[in-house]
Amino acid sequence: MEHYFTNNDNLKSDFRTIIYKYNDYSLEFTSDLGVFSKDKVDFGSKLLMETFLNSDHTPNTTLLDVGCGYGIIGITLSKIASVQSTLVDVNKRALHLAKMNAKNLGVDATIFESDVYSNVSGKYDVIITNPPIRAGKQKVMQFLLEACDYLEDDGELWIVMRKDQGAKSAIEKMKNIYSVEVREKSKGFFIIVAKKLLTSN
Ligand SMILES: C[S@@+](CC[C@H](N)C(=O)[O-])C[C@H]1O[C@@H](n2cnc3c(N)ncnc32)[C@H](O)[C@@H]1O
Repeated sequence: MEHYFTNNDNLKSDFRTIIYKYNDYSLEFTSDLGVFSKDKVDFGSKLLMETFLNSDHTPNTTLLDVGCGYGIIGITLSKIASVQSTLVDVNKRALHLAKMNAKNLGVDATIFESDVYSNVSGKYDVIITNPPIRAGKQKVMQFLLEACDYLEDDGELWIVMRKDQGAKSAIEKMKNIYSVEVREKSKGFFIIVAKKLLTSN
C-alpha cells in the first residue's frame, strides 16, 4: 500500500498551489501528488504553527521540523517568527518541494533526507513535528522520545496529535523523560509541549 511517506519514482506530478494566510502574511507553497495533505494546510499543522506563533519565542531560535513534508511548518516559522529552521523527511518528493518552497519564499533553511534523526546532529532549541501516524506507533514514539537527544537542555518539543490517535498514551510514555504540557486543544487535536526532565547529581 502506498503511503505519503513512500518514495515512488513512477508517480506522476500534478503540482498545486497552497496559500497559507496568517495576519498580514500570505505565503504560497507548491505541493504535489504523493505528499501529506497535498491540497490544503493540514488542520493539525496549522494549529501547531499558530500555537507556536502565539507563544513567546525568540528570533534566531534553532528549530528542527521532523517529517517536514512540503515544508509548511519549518518554512512558515522561519518566515514569520525568524527562527533558523532545519527540515528533514524520508520522502524525496517532499524534500524537493520543501527546498523549492524555501527558495521561492526567500527562506534560508537547511533541508535534507533523514529517517527520523538518523542524519541529524547537534542540538536544537525547538523540535517540532506533526508525526506520521500511519507509520505506526513505534515510529511515532521514535519521533517523540529520541527528540530528547537533539534538544538543548532548555529546549522544547512541540507536537500535534489527535486524541483518538493515541495522544494520551503518548503523553504517558513521554512523562518518563519530559515534563509534558497540553498547551492547546481544538477539534480533537492536542498541541503538546514537552521539556527535558533534567537530572541533577
Ligand atoms: C503528518 S505528515 C506532516 C508533514 C508536514 N510537516 C505537514 O505538516 O504538512 C508526516 C511526515 O513525516 C514523514 N515521515 C514518515 N516517516 C518518516 C521517517 N521515518 N523519518 C522522517 N520523516 C518521516 C512523512 O513523509 C510526512 O511528510
